[in-house]
Amino acid sequence: MNSLAERLASEQDLPDEGLRELLETEDDALAGELRARARARADAVFGREVYLRGLIEVTNICRNDCFYCGIRKSNSRLARYNLTRETILRACADIYRAGVRTIVLQGGENPLIAQLLTSIVADIRAAWPSCAITVSMGELPRDTYERLRRAGADRYLLRHETADPAHYAQLHPASMTLENRLRCLRDLKELGFQVGMGMMVGTPGQGTGQLIKDIRLLQEFKPAMIGIGPFIPHKDTPFGDQPPGSAETTLRLYSILRLMMPEALIPSTTALATLMPGGRIAGIEAGANVIMPNFTPSDQKKAYNLYEGKAATDPAEALHAIKQELAAHGYFTGSSRGDYCKHESDV
Ligand code: 5AD
Repeated sequence: MNSLAERLASEQDLPDEGLRELLETEDDALAGELRARARARADAVFGREVYLRGLIEVTNICRNDCFYCGIRKSNSRLARYNLTRETILRACADIYRAGVRTIVLQGGENPLIAQLLTSIVADIRAAWPSCAITVSMGELPRDTYERLRRAGADRYLLRHETADPAHYAQLHPASMTLENRLRCLRDLKELGFQVGMGMMVGTPGQGTGQLIKDIRLLQEFKPAMIGIGPFIPHKDTPFGDQPPGSAETTLRLYSILRLMMPEALIPSTTALATLMPGGRIAGIEAGANVIMPNFTPSDQKKAYNLYEGKAATDPAEALHAIKQELAAHGYFTGSSRGDYCKHESDV
């Protein structure tokens, strides 16, 4: 009889009960087989290369009030900042000098700042033509997405957070809906962005059923990137005393999604590395193929804590340590942009 991991590897799909079993099983042999098959598939598609993305947290000013997030607007204990054009361009130069060819501009949701960012994106596009530019600033008017795209942004990250509308309502104030989030994601795809979506693992009210819905949504939407990390409670939020999500479940999701969507770009997330010692490499061993080192200038970095315990070190040093850790496990980081390699016409 074929194991579930073998079936998933050969059919690139499983019925819901099979997914539930893979997510919940306490059979270490099965969990190990899932991981090994996912890594083998990543090796087949990407070799031993891990793509790097240089992250700049451009602002922690946010109009939203998500119950899990440390930069929610009701958190009055946080000093708010907005990086200047000069600071952002300096961080881009650091990223380029480090050999990284994707610049990620991430920030709280703020339509005005996002509009101003458009001209900074144009400056980056002109100064570093060989770099991919990714933006992650939440839900914006289609028109702003379009301007960002025209200014030279290639990719956009917007996690859907949960594919279950009722669960979405447990995590967000009533002003936010899953429907609108998905509308934004469709707009972004239509505008020609490589789109990243994803969810947290272990948010309050989430069970395996919700995760299966997330997997089905990802299968249907076919994003270029899939960002998944464990929920980590932040004390200045309504979810401050909730337990964190499971690192093990996060790793299993990397493996399942690698086998279902072999070309997907899957980061081994900072939240996973924060929660689990050795988490960054464990994510890669489970089938992830992207790491996003943080290049936010260190005087601002402390103010961008979505969750607690997020490490703050010198960007160049941190990157050096990451490269060494990867090399010790037989991986390397190239200097390619690391674009999504599957064309729309194949999907
Ligand atoms: N724990 C883990 N991830 C979080 N995010 C926000 N708050 C937390 C938290 N407390 C994630 C969300 C968001 C991304 C930028 O960070 O999924 O989309």
